[in-house]
Amino acid sequence: MAFKGFFGRGRDTAPAPAAGEPASAEVSDATTDDDGDETPEAAPARSWRERAAAVLPTGASTGSKRAEALYGALDENGPTHFVDARGCHLTSVDGHRYLDCTMALGAVALGYTEPRVTRAVIEAASQGGVSALSSWREVELAERLCALIPCAERVQFLKTGAEATSAAVRLARTYTGREHVVASGYFGWHDWSSEAAGVPAATRRDTTRVPFDDVDALERAVTAAGSSLAAVVLEPIVERTPAIAWLARARALCDATGAALVFDEVKTGFRVAPGGYQEVCGITPDLASFGKAMANGYPLSAVVGRQALMDAARTTWISSTLASESVALAASLAVLDWHDEADIAATLAETGREMRAAVDRAIEASGVQGVHTLGVDPMWLMRWDDPARESRFLVHAMHEGVLFKRGAYNYAAVAHDEESLRVIEAAASAALVALLEDEA
Ligand SMILES: Cc1ncc(COP(=O)(O)O)c(C=O)c1O
Repeated sequence: MAFKGFFGRGRDTAPAPAAGEPASAEVSDATTDDDGDETPEAAPARSWRERAAAVLPTGASTGSKRAEALYGALDENGPTHFVDARGCHLTSVDGHRYLDCTMALGAVALGYTEPRVTRAVIEAASQGGVSALSSWREVELAERLCALIPCAERVQFLKTGAEATSAAVRLARTYTGREHVVASGYFGWHDWSSEAAGVPAATRRDTTRVPFDDVDALERAVTAAGSSLAAVVLEPIVERTPAIAWLARARALCDATGAALVFDEVKTGFRVAPGGYQEVCGITPDLASFGKAMANGYPLSAVVGRQALMDAARTTWISSTLASESVALAASLAVLDWHDEADIAATLAETGREMRAAVDRAIEASGVQGVHTLGVDPMWLMRWDDPARESRFLVHAMHEGVLFKRGAYNYAAVAHDEESLRVIEAAASAALVALLEDEA
């Protein structure tokens, strides 16, 4: 059977069930064919979780989607993979339906499979996502971003938030001819901002980390960097908005030293306002990075900024083969259409406020101590004193059909409607009561 090996690969391929129809990777009836080979029915029973662990070193290419990162390690049969996502719901490979409060780590703010975005994506894909030439959509989207984002005079597209923020740092270093970066926030996995294993010590020395919203620490780091300061890179909101004085001081320090002020708006862009937090706070950086909600779950990011700094892209080299493929650009154009027609940021704020209030009511009614909610309206989180109790709560909530994010933001989406809010409150209440029963 010449093709057996090849076609055999399909044996473990996920059968995509119709929405709501149970599907499972587990097959247990042992049979063999005439050659004594295992037939599909004879494949050993293996869950998607086990199969993922066998081929993906960390179990999932997106770290925060590992079950332990999502709801903890207490339920080894909990959901790990999905076959369908619509609105604010997903269906797991074993046919269970969940209300999702994570919204793909904030990559989706309208809702999964939002019809206008999906139509735009299908049209772009059917016209050919790439060719020898750039897509016209790249120009149109860049023009529209320049009209929307306060600091944007020029745009360059990439695929991930980490890429866009790293590009901003590269542009700042090229423009200033300096190397040191003072940074506050999370910027992805790239070397310049990471303290993970494998990052060269020399690279780490080029970045000084400062705490969020701490003017004195910022001033000390900028002073210490002296004439080598290329950029101050800030995530402008981390669990709360900072004092305006922090951002204003960063602006003033950059003006005084000639360094570039960079805002990482990967989470805040097209969420707190279309143009990010810079649109709200009135302090304009020199460069900014956008991603996540900008294309409602399709892979697209952008570094934007003042022309003088962005033109450093001509001197250095920032390029990626698929940076301008048209499917994600089309998705983003559809997202911008939504923002033009409706106050999406206001809807996200209101919905997030109500989601959080629903969980606050559940906490209050249950009498459970050691947990509270925090965050800004469209992105909020639960903070538990005890991570073990947090995991138990999350697993109970998951069994009630709602996925909350462990230790990080839950994100509001336009798709979270009134009924979703009721479901969230009911699930949180039931999970808190179950936690109390565990502890009784
Ligand atoms: C503020 C911020 N910047 C950068 C990143 C990295 O983006 P990506 O994971 O798309 O590379 C993230 C991801 O969560 C983020 O929250």
